[in-house]
Amino acid sequence: MTIAIPSLPLIALGGAAFVALFPRLKRRLELSRAKHRSLAGHPRIARRLASFLPFYEYDDARFFDCDGASPEIAAQRRAGFTRLAEIYRERFPETNRLSAEAAKSISDLQFTERYRTPFQFNRYVAQRLPSGAFLAASSGVTLTDLDGNIFYDLAASYGVNVFGNDFYKETIAESEADARALGPVLGPYHPAIVDVVRRLKEISGQDEISFHMSGTEAVMQAVRLARYHTRRPRLLRFCGAYHGWWGDVQPGIGNPAPAHDTFTLSEMSPETLHVLRTRSDIACVLVNPLQALAPNAPAPADSSLVDRSRRAHFDRAAYTQWLKELRAICTERGIVLIFDEVLVGFRLARGGAQEYFGVKADLVTYGKTLGGGFPVGVLCGRGDLMRRYREDRPGDICFARGTFNSHPYVICAMRRFLQRLDEPFCRDLYRDLDRIWDERAQSLNARFEAENMPVRVANMSSIMMVCYSEPSRYNWMLQYYLRAEGLALPWTGTGRLIFSLNYTDADFAAVAERFVAAAKTMREDGWQLAPAGLTNKAIRRGVLQEMLRHRLFGKPAAGAGSDSAAP
Ligand SMILES: Cc1ncc(COP(=O)(O)O)c(C=O)c1O
Repeated sequence: MTIAIPSLPLIALGGAAFVALFPRLKRRLELSRAKHRSLAGHPRIARRLASFLPFYEYDDARFFDCDGASPEIAAQRRAGFTRLAEIYRERFPETNRLSAEAAKSISDLQFTERYRTPFQFNRYVAQRLPSGAFLAASSGVTLTDLDGNIFYDLAASYGVNVFGNDFYKETIAESEADARALGPVLGPYHPAIVDVVRRLKEISGQDEISFHMSGTEAVMQAVRLARYHTRRPRLLRFCGAYHGWWGDVQPGIGNPAPAHDTFTLSEMSPETLHVLRTRSDIACVLVNPLQALAPNAPAPADSSLVDRSRRAHFDRAAYTQWLKELRAICTERGIVLIFDEVLVGFRLARGGAQEYFGVKADLVTYGKTLGGGFPVGVLCGRGDLMRRYREDRPGDICFARGTFNSHPYVICAMRRFLQRLDEPFCRDLYRDLDRIWDERAQSLNARFEAENMPVRVANMSSIMMVCYSEPSRYNWMLQYYLRAEGLALPWTGTGRLIFSLNYTDADFAAVAERFVAAAKTMREDGWQLAPAGLTNKAIRRGVLQEMLRHRLFGKPAAGAGSDSAAP
C-alpha cells in the first residue's frame, strides 16, 4: 500500500491559504461574538424565520382558553370581554364608524390595526374592540374623540408633543403669521432660518445645520456623510434600536432587501467595543439614547407581547459610562459617532441627550418636536463632517436635497419653538424633570404593589414602559381596558407611554387612578388567572408548537396550542 504524501508546494499553498483566511475568520468570529443573543440581534435570521411564520388565529372558544385555562376561567374572561365590547359599542359609535370606513382605503391604518395585538388574537379583537383612528380636538393633556369622549394623552403624538398640544397650536398660529408674506415659496430661504441656525448651533454645540423633512431623512444624511468622509462602508447600529424606516437602519423584519453594509451589534457590550477597536471598515456608530431604558430590546409593541418577558430598567450612570467609552473609541479610530435624538431631543433636557449624558457626538439628528408641530428632520454636526464636497475633487460630492427641506412655514414654526424654549414656561418644565417623573412612576408602582397587581412601569424621564410580572398570554389586553378608562395609548400599546411635560401632579394622579382601575378590572375578568405553573418558557413552547403544527399540517390538532402548564 502506498501512502500519498502531499508535495511540499501543496502544503505551502494550504498554509498560505490558512494564513490568508485566518484574519478574516477571526474578524468574522469577533463580529459574531458582538451580536446580541436575541433574534433582534440577528436581523437576517429573524427575517428568514419570519417568512416561515404561518398565519392562524383563535376561534371563539380558543380565544379565551389558549393558555389551557379551566372552563370557569374562560367563562369569566368571556363575560369581561363581552362587557368591554359593549362599552366600546356604546361609547364610541361615530369614531368606530368612521374608523371602519377609513380603514378600507388607508393602508397605514390597515397595517396598524393588524399589528396591535399578537396575530392569533387580532381579528377577533379588532372586530369587537375597534380602536378609534380619529380625534376631534385636543386641550391641555387631553384628547377628545368624535363622540365627545375625553382621554388623557399617553402617546404624545409619537413623542412630538413635549410641551402640550396647546403650545404647538400657538406656535403654528404665530409662525403662520410670520411666514404668510412669503408664503410657500421654496428654494430661497425665509430670513427666520438665520435665527434657527444660531439657536440650534448653541443648543447642539455643533458647527453646521442641514434641514430635512423627517427624522428618517436626517438619519440618512448623517450616515451618508459619515461614509463619505471616512470612505468606509459600514454602519454600526445597536440591537433593537429604531432609527426610522430607511433600509440601511432597518436590516431585519420589515425591509424586504438585505442591508449588506449594516452591522447590528450588542449595546453596552465589551465585544462591540472590541469590534470598533479592531476593524477599519466602520464609518459610523448610530446611537438611539432611548435604548437606555431597555438596551438591546426591540420596540416594545404589544403585538409581540406573547408572555411577560418585556423588561426595562434605566440606569443613567451605566449608560453614561457606555456612551463615554463609545466616544473614546470613536475618537481613537476616526469613527463618526451619531446620536439620533429624533425622539429624545428636547425631551430629556433642553440640550437633549448630549447634555443629559454629558457626551458630545460628532453628528446629531433631531426631529419631531423641533418642527413646532410641523414635520421636520434636522442634522447638526461638526463642520468638517457636514461638508458635501471636496475642495480638491470637484466631481466627488455627497448629494442631499429635498424639495420641502426648508419650507418657510416649518422654519418659522421652528424659530418660534426655539424662541419659546428660553421662555419661563419651558424653562420651568425642565426644572427637576427627572425627579418629578421618577416620583410619578414610583407612585404608580406603589399603587400597583399595594393592590398586588402584576403590572409595573419603568421610566426614563417622561417616557414609560409597562412591564408585566406574571406570565400570561393576555397581558396585551390591558391596552383595551386602559382605553375604556379614558387613556389614549399609541397604536403599539403599552410598551411606550410618552407624557408631555405639561402634565401636573393632579393630571398624573388622575391617570394613575384610571390605570389602576383598568388593571383591576382586567384582573377581575380573569385574564391573568393562568393555570398553575405556567411559565414564560411554557408559553413560548406552546406557541412554537402551534406554529409548527400549522406549518406542517395547515391547522392545529385537537387541543393543540394549549400552553403546557408543566414546569
Ligand atoms: C430615534 C428615531 N429616529 C428616527 C425616527 C424617524 O423619524 P420620522 O418618523 O420623522 O421619519 C424616529 C421616529 O420615531 C425615531 O424615534
